[in-house]
Amino acid sequence: MRSAMLATFPLFLLLAAGNDVTGDTGDKNPNFVIIMVDDLGIGDIGCYGNDTIRTPNIDRLASEGVKLTQYIAAAPLCTPSRTAFMTGRYPLRSGMASTGRVQVLLFLGGSGGLPPNETTFAKRLQQQGYTTGLIGKWHLGVNCESRGDHCHHPNHHGFSYFYGLPFTLFNDCVPGEGSDVLNDLQLTLQHLTLLLGIGLFTLVCVRLCGILEVSLWLLLLLLILGIVAAAVWYVPFGLLRTWNCIIMRNQDVIEQPMTVETVPQRLLAEAQDFIKRNADRPFLLFFSLAHIHTPLFTTPAFAGKSRHGRYGDNLEEVDWIVGKITETVDSLGLANNTLLHFTSDHGGHLEDAHSLFGQKGGWNSIYKGGKAMAGWEGGIRVPGIFRWPGRLAAGRVVDEPTSLMDLYPTLKYLAKDTQPDRHLDGYNLMPLLEGKAARSEHEFMFHYCGINLNAVRWHPPNSNSIFKVHFFTPNFFPPGAGGCYDTGVCMCHGEHVTHHNPPLLYDLFHDPSESRQLTPETELRYTEVLEQTARAVERHKSTFQSRNVRGDMDVQSSTVQNQMSWEKILWRPWLQPCCGTFPFCGCKEETDLYEKTSI
Ligand SMILES: *[C@@H]1O[C@H](CO)[C@@H](O)[C@H](O)[C@H]1NC(C)=O
Ligand SMILES: *[C@@H]1O[C@H](CO)[C@@H](O)[C@H](O)[C@H]1NC(C)=O
Ligand SMILES: *[C@@H]1O[C@H](CO)[C@@H](O)[C@H](O)[C@H]1NC(C)=O
Repeated sequence: MRSAMLATFPLFLLLAAGNDVTGDTGDKNPNFVIIMVDDLGIGDIGCYGNDTIRTPNIDRLASEGVKLTQYIAAAPLCTPSRTAFMTGRYPLRSGMASTGRVQVLLFLGGSGGLPPNETTFAKRLQQQGYTTGLIGKWHLGVNCESRGDHCHHPNHHGFSYFYGLPFTLFNDCVPGEGSDVLNDLQLTLQHLTLLLGIGLFTLVCVRLCGILEVSLWLLLLLLILGIVAAAVWYVPFGLLRTWNCIIMRNQDVIEQPMTVETVPQRLLAEAQDFIKRNADRPFLLFFSLAHIHTPLFTTPAFAGKSRHGRYGDNLEEVDWIVGKITETVDSLGLANNTLLHFTSDHGGHLEDAHSLFGQKGGWNSIYKGGKAMAGWEGGIRVPGIFRWPGRLAAGRVVDEPTSLMDLYPTLKYLAKDTQPDRHLDGYNLMPLLEGKAARSEHEFMFHYCGINLNAVRWHPPNSNSIFKVHFFTPNFFPPGAGGCYDTGVCMCHGEHVTHHNPPLLYDLFHDPSESRQLTPETELRYTEVLEQTARAVERHKSTFQSRNVRGDMDVQSSTVQNQMSWEKILWRPWLQPCCGTFPFCGCKEETDLYEKTSI
């Protein structure tokens, strides 16, 4: 016993000494500045082939760093894509994929959101001693059971500082721009209220004029129904701007409803300030822009300057903001120790066209489809730029398949975090970014539409081909229109999709716009592709039951709680973030400060 202890003693000393040495090398952990734009299409950016929109600052990042050309979002919509980005896992694993009509969180007063026991890259970095900040859009929930429990709030998901939109920018934030939330339900409720009102009025007249004997009970019932319908319709929908368009600093609501016009400059000033005050320590800044989601309000300095209407004006403002952030990093001498990443949460929204203002949604270049169009490339292939002078070669282009879920393991690796983790779906990107690996570890990639596995991408070893198999595709309306112009976003279930048996097959390497369907006659490997992908799907499915590293059962698709159910999504008064006394919520941030200090 004693001798065994003695024998291990020198080894123990050695290990301890080893730890000290690595701690003393002065090899400081890098900073991370992650810039994510909302709804930006891959074809909107100069360095991805656009020649009419001016994006010199984003282009400069690409020329000084590495550009990914096949950078794939795990979902074509905000909430699930951002979940996957933050957690390094398919959104299904955390219950953040939709089962039906509701595909994103719709109310801040709902109870769905990123589960408190999920782990974000921010949480991992925080545990590694990083100072972590989120400036901008969150859209992954706020409360679970009571106002202020903040179970889904960024502060409880690894961000020690939060300033921005716990929800998102959307049309309802600007009066007169229409509504983005369950329009048909709103209309039905409105008609119902109206009908009840008219019915009640008629019956009261009939009774008063003595034409017919109308029961008082019937009148009372109609009155109550009318009041309930009005309350259900008016309260959550009529006040959407107040409920959802708010600004929080950490856990305080500081503006409700927000003044959208000053949001860009406030977010920029906050982001610059965060970098400046943390220049001396390893930090993570996730700068999640409210742009370029509709309603596309225009900052005066950029109004009417681009060649693409309000959309182009917004985009050129985004570029300017990216330039300001880069300038801040560089002027503090942080460039060589900062990994700067630029991306979008998913592709551009093709249906978002407005006859008055022309284009309002992003442009997805040669790729088919867009936001909320299942696995079509245009909705999931996004810009991806990594700049890190001194570590990453300038001007490198990586065409291999990569995923937004790769950021999580990449940051973990760079922060020297070797602690056990849950099952991850992403891979460390550094070997590809540094040119040490030629092939991506994503031989297969799975594309989801809500909770449904919709398509599989296969990059066979020793081949350039990128096969993509679609098991079902969304039904466009009108047919052939290239989008779901009836509902504004396509859906993933029931009569909204067409199942394909055999599945549709394309080779993105030869046919990036998915326009030439492969057949056994045109593709030698046709049968092999279907077999290989079917097997990969089985293996993929088995990971939803596998044991994770801690030995407990990992999230199961069947048992993990669905965060996107009607019950969790719908508004409830006791969860509504509010400044003042509910329901009289309202406050305004003092913004003079920003005007003086920033731009
Ligand atoms: C550039 O972007 C604009 C705005 O999204 C788009 O309308 C235009 O078609 C794009 N041009 C190219 C060459 O991709
Ligand atoms: C950053 O790295 C580059 C390339 O290694 C080097 O030329 C440059 O001098 C470095 N800059 C600073 C401020 O250290
Ligand atoms: C989080 O908790 C839920 C409910 O208890 C459980 O089903 C799930 O597996 C947990 N997730 C993780 C990542 O531990």
